[in-house]
Order: sequence, then C-alpha cells, then structure tokens
Amino acid sequence: MKVIVTDEVSDSGLQLLEEDPRVSVDVRLKLSAEELRAQIGAYDAIITRSGTRVDRALLEAGENLKIVARAGVGVDSVDIDAASERGIIVVNAPTGNTNSAAEHTFALLLSLCRNVTVANDNLKSGDWQRAPFTGHELRGKTLGIIGMGKVGGRVARRARAFEMDVVVYDPYISEKRAEDFGVRLVQLDDLLRLADIITVHTPLNEETKGMIGPAQFERMKDGVLIVNCARGGIYVEEATLQALESGKVIGAAFDVWSQEPPDSDTLKKLIAHPKMVVTPHLGANTFEAQKNVAIDVCQEILAYLDGKPLTNA
Ligand code: MLT
Repeated sequence: MKVIVTDEVSDSGLQLLEEDPRVSVDVRLKLSAEELRAQIGAYDAIITRSGTRVDRALLEAGENLKIVARAGVGVDSVDIDAASERGIIVVNAPTGNTNSAAEHTFALLLSLCRNVTVANDNLKSGDWQRAPFTGHELRGKTLGIIGMGKVGGRVARRARAFEMDVVVYDPYISEKRAEDFGVRLVQLDDLLRLADIITVHTPLNEETKGMIGPAQFERMKDGVLIVNCARGGIYVEEATLQALESGKVIGAAFDVWSQEPPDSDTLKKLIAHPKMVVTPHLGANTFEAQKNVAIDVCQEILAYLDGKPLTNA
C-alpha cells in the first residue's frame, strides 16, 4: 500500500506504517492542489489534517485511492459524498485531540478575559501599565456553549470548575446529559440572551455554517465575549467584525478561520483587530493530541490491510 501524507502528522503513527513491509509512506508537505492532483493517482491512501482539501477533483484523480485518513475529528475538508460514490473509505480520529481542543479553548478564553496577549506585548515593548489591562473574572459569569459533544462537554466541566454557570444549546443531547454535566439545556435564542461569554463546539456543516450571524449578534448581551476553537465560518466573520466595531462584542478569541491561511480583507481586518486574540488553528496542536490522532488513523490503515473492521470509518 502506498500512502501519501500531506500535512504534518506525528512520527509515532507513521512509524507503525513504516515498520510494516506491506506499506510505503511518502511525506509530501506543502503541495499545491494541482501538484497533489498530479501525484495522487500513484497512492492507495492519503493521510491529511485540515491543511488539505480532499475534494471531488482530488478523489477523481485518485484512481487507486482506497482510504482517506483524517488525523483529527473534523471531516469538513473531505467530500464524503464523492468518496462514497467511489467506494473510498474515510476514517478520522474522533477522540485523540478533544482534550487539547478543550484546553486551548480555555487558553484563549483566559487570555481574552485577562488581556494576556496585549499586556505581554506592552511589557515587552518596555512600557509598564496596569489599568488598561484590567480584566474580567470567569467566576459567576454565564458561559454559553453551542454544541456539547466531546469538546463541548470537556469545556463545560472545566467551566464548572471555574465556578461559572453554564447554559448549553445542542438539539442532539438529552436533558440527562446536560444534568450529568451540571449545565442547563436551553434554546439558542435563550443562550444568546443569557450568556456573558459564548463558545462554539460544533462541526462545520450545512446546519452550523453561518449559524451566528447579524440577527444572532443582535440578540446577545451588550459587552459579550466570544470564542471559536471549532471551525471558521460558524460565526459569520463579517458580522463578527461589525459586532466588534460596534462594541456589542468587547472581545473575541478565534483559533479557526473560514479560509486557512486567511487571505481575505475581512479576515485580515478581523485578525488585526485590537479586541481579537488569535491563533493559527492550534486547538489540536499538542504533542499528546498529535501522537494520539496519528496512531489512531495509522492503526485504521493497518486494520484495512489486515481485512479487519474499521473503528472510525
Ligand atoms: C480536527 O478537526 O480535529 C482538527 O482541526 C485537526 C487539525 O488540527 O488539523
């Protein structure tokens, strides 16, 4: 089996493949879409992260492709319909990086509330100021979590440890799950009205793309803080910029963007905005998470070769 790896994936997983005499692995990072399309025909499997779009054109060019392995949770970068039409199996790693994503959510949230990034820049520039960096406590605030899956659930537990009240919107979970986490299940409009801080933890799909737009910003409290450590495009980015400029939103922390790397004027303005804390899609970027997801997807490829059932197809 010839495997191409097109994004940075931990050696801990790739070693499993390299030790197997049936498999040869080529790591080819930073290929353009055209370059990858020209090469994919030679491969039986592709391992990617969010840096590679596995679209219909790529799948059509992959005449020998049998398996697409996404070393992470989100499969929004893969055209699942086109893969299914060709009998190509898509596997992901649905658990290995969820703790890292939850922890990064808090890294962003605390940086935002305590002005860590701006105070850091100010002190390093040789200045000494304290009053402009006065922040907000989490204790006693209401956190609104949109999407209470594996990451959202971990965020809820950590928020409770910070003595926050937590309201959750997730049409797919039961009252019982919410009770188990010590959180209150509400409708989206109620969450928007009640929350001091809002964080999204949904996949990006037809239902969630643009789900927080101008009308939803309008319903939020004045002076709300917002976080996105899930997927770019869940908050409409143009509306986010307007909400920051109007003062409706007094701070936002985003790790993910509708275009990565970001290149549009709106994204450039959003990233440069003084009230934004930003990171370049680092939610899953810990040594622990990367080792977990790499091992998970490489084991799936080996299971395929052994004719065993796949766990995350
Ligand atoms: C995920 O979907 O799990 C992450 O976005 C993976 C990544 O960092 O590429």
